[in-house]
Amino acid sequence: MKRLFSIVLAVVLAICFAFPIFAEAEKAIQLPAPQMDGGMPLMKALKLRCTTREYSGEALPPQELSNLLWAACGINRPDSEKRTAPTAMNKQEIDVYVALPEGLYLYDAKAHVLNLILAQDLREATGKQPFVKDAPVNLVFVANYTRMGEGPKEVQDFYAAMDTGYISQNVYLFCASAGLASVARGWVDKEALAKVMMLGVDKKIMLAQTVGYPKKK
Ligand SMILES: Cc1cc2nc3c(=O)[nH]c(=O)nc-3n(C[C@H](O)[C@H](O)[C@H](O)COP(=O)(O)O)c2cc1C
Repeated sequence: MKRLFSIVLAVVLAICFAFPIFAEAEKAIQLPAPQMDGGMPLMKALKLRCTTREYSGEALPPQELSNLLWAACGINRPDSEKRTAPTAMNKQEIDVYVALPEGLYLYDAKAHVLNLILAQDLREATGKQPFVKDAPVNLVFVANYTRMGEGPKEVQDFYAAMDTGYISQNVYLFCASAGLASVARGWVDKEALAKVMMLGVDKKIMLAQTVGYPKKK
């Protein structure tokens, strides 16, 4: 019996090494260059923009993920490194974390790369609604108060919220244009999420936003 168990274990391990069942999180995902000349007319995207709460589990191809993040707050003027979304005094204080099934990543707009933060599926922790755990992408917008520098807390909170809103609307409009579904989400256990994301005290979770393909009716 012991021998049989050892043989079965050896076979299972051999198969696992040959065909990895559990995809390992890549340390960095180099996104393909964003396609900046596509999409639908802006007025049509505005007409279609809406909140959707039912998703198919289908993953976004790398090109779609690239386009999404660039639209959200990528660099659109390389000379000045300014972004598709404005920020008060150009502080660029909102970081976009991306919760994928294989791990939590942080978007680096300059390199257009996703850097691995945690090789763990944190999608469920990004919100209190049932669809978040199965949707392929959950964005988490985090304000970095150190980057905002000195100033009254009240003003910083206001700017961080405003700057998050612009990014979120960019995501909504991109999704409308690309046939994707999205929902901005404030209903998040921010304390618990900040803990699992291991955020420092100068970082504040502002909003989450789910993106995926709409569930087929
Ligand atoms: C700041 C903000 C927070 C939101 N939080 C949630 C949320 O936690 N859960 C949710 O299902 N929808 C959330 N929504 C989506 C709104 O409910 C939705 O935008 C509203 O019902 C109007 O629908 P529409 O986006 O289709 O126009 C949020 C929207 C915003 C702008």
